Amino acid sequence: MKDVIDYQKIFSDVASKVSKMDDLGNVACYIPELGTVNPNKLGIHLTTVDQLHFHFGDATEKFSIQSISKVFSLTLALKLKGDKLWERVGYEPSGCAFNSLVQLEHENGIPRNPFINAGAIVICDVLVSSLDNPKDDLLDFIKCTSGIDDISYNEKVVHSEKETGYRNYALANFMKSFGNLNNEVDCVLDFYFHLCSIEMSCKDLAQAFLYLADAGVNPITNTTVITARRSKRINSIMQMCGFYDEAGEFAFKTGLPGKSGVGGGIIAVHPGKYCIAVWSPKLNKNGNSYKGMALLEGITTRSNNSIF
Ligand code: DON
Repeated sequence: MKDVIDYQKIFSDVASKVSKMDDLGNVACYIPELGTVNPNKLGIHLTTVDQLHFHFGDATEKFSIQSISKVFSLTLALKLKGDKLWERVGYEPSGCAFNSLVQLEHENGIPRNPFINAGAIVICDVLVSSLDNPKDDLLDFIKCTSGIDDISYNEKVVHSEKETGYRNYALANFMKSFGNLNNEVDCVLDFYFHLCSIEMSCKDLAQAFLYLADAGVNPITNTTVITARRSKRINSIMQMCGFYDEAGEFAFKTGLPGKSGVGGGIIAVHPGKYCIAVWSPKLNKNGNSYKGMALLEGITTRSNNSIF
């Protein structure tokens, strides 16, 4: 049966409630370029597997998707390397901040999962080794599978991250010392910073990640992005690790697998039904969009439509 939920009404009701909340968060200033965004932006876009679209606010404005892009890099690396990938990165929740160093020494330079920065850097190393032109090939992969042509890196954000990414340099050097990076640190981090700088809108994101709602196939482009088994696994990892030390909170309140980015975006997936993306730039203390989390909690509660 088709989804008959009136999302349009739910979005405007929930957004109006959330807009009145005191947003105690801050935009991500540790990457100075991200601090230039208008903090009052708010967008929502939901696309169903039947290709129905519902949207609200700044849903077509592009923003820095940051760690949301780690779902694309994981998908591509899994496609290229299969289960051998898990020899170099785990799939357990970390319970730590996204840029934490503490577990790495105890665990011999093998990051807990592909979404913390250390894990995403290992995935970038895998892609640098496997692709002829990693930056072009990654963008082509996203464009071809999503059917969206105007997706690009933001070089200002790349530059800003390079200037200030001391923790990422520390993580990469540390993993190199354990033998878990095959390429040079600067080369891997150049690719990692580009990955994080990708700009897309809520509408783009809901369309591009729809494959995770449809067993690995994007129904809009009719492309098999990844196998159903691996799509299931990516959703599982998002559920457990997509919000770092706040993954439990997100699962508890929203009831969907999801992935956040410090640009203030969040994607969430209801397997078999839809993909939704929200954007509100101010972040809570864990680096996740404060209002974005509230929007998704409100939407799944009002629509009574989560996986639990
Ligand atoms: O490397 C960083 O710190 C950022 N480019 C990405 C971090 C991020 O988006 C964490 N997610 N909430």
